Amino acid sequence: MRLSREVALVTGAAGGIGRAVATCFAREGAEVIVSDIDEAGSASTLEEIEKAGGKGTVISADVMREEDVVSLYRRAVERYGRIDIVVNIAGGDCEPASDVEQIDYVKMSANIDLNLKSCMLSCREAARVMKPQGSGRIVNMSSLVYRGSPNQFSYSASKGGIYAFTRSLAMSLGRFGITVNALAPALVEVPAFIRALGEERWEMLRKDCSQRYPLGRVATPDDVARCALFLASDDAAFITGQILEISGGARL
Ligand SMILES: NC(=O)c1ccc[n+]([C@@H]2O[C@H](COP(=O)([O-])OP(=O)(O)OC[C@H]3O[C@@H](n4cnc5c(N)ncnc54)[C@H](O)[C@@H]3O)[C@@H](O)[C@H]2O)c1
Repeated sequence: MRLSREVALVTGAAGGIGRAVATCFAREGAEVIVSDIDEAGSASTLEEIEKAGGKGTVISADVMREEDVVSLYRRAVERYGRIDIVVNIAGGDCEPASDVEQIDYVKMSANIDLNLKSCMLSCREAARVMKPQGSGRIVNMSSLVYRGSPNQFSYSASKGGIYAFTRSLAMSLGRFGITVNALAPALVEVPAFIRALGEERWEMLRKDCSQRYPLGRVATPDDVARCALFLASDDAAFITGQILEISGGARL
């Protein structure tokens, strides 16, 4: 087991990728703090963990609310006494494709709040716990669109911001034994996507991407979970400030 007796906090753990990460970490021996705004979804993730013989607990939080994030970390430390790993996955695109002239202030702000500011807040709280420990692993969820994406202005900016923030944090926290890295997946097949687009449009998107990606398919949540595991494990002890593209070779 690669995360034996580690305490791992995963935000967005009710979602497609978050659930895969939470269950993967639990299978590897971590005690997982399952956090999401979706309480029923979090309960299902915990059920899956426990069915597989793993251990965890649910602490719900809305990562867009500062008081929720502060309370999430306070409750986690009250329960476990420490946090070894944080994976910031909660997020999503609040402003799907638009022309630049049509950028909507409210949706644009929502993208920055949900993806970038939530990640910064969570990392601030993680640093407060991990610095005194003298160790920690932080993995942030960016996206391949951090490189830029036509007509996806605020989402790509928020994910690019996560990369810049991750590098800044890695520079500041390295001497405290804390690594900070980011994941940048291309299209990942998750139930939320299929629900939002409908089967037919999803299938068109999946086919289009599969033809364009050199490896000939889109990613699974498990592809992403295994990369998160690598960055959270001792195998990545000397890696920090990096972004790992999980892209099947897209946009090389
Ligand atoms: N699916 C993809 O193709 C893809 C590609 C690259 C990056 N990502 C990123 O991966 C992450 C997970 O996405 P997913 O594909 O699993 O989608 P998803 O919608 O299944 O998961 C997102 C999770 O975040 C939670 N969430 C949303 N707002 C929240 C809030 N305010 N507080 C707490 N939790 C909140 C949702 O309840 C959900 O469980 C996101 O950050 C997304 O931007 C996804």
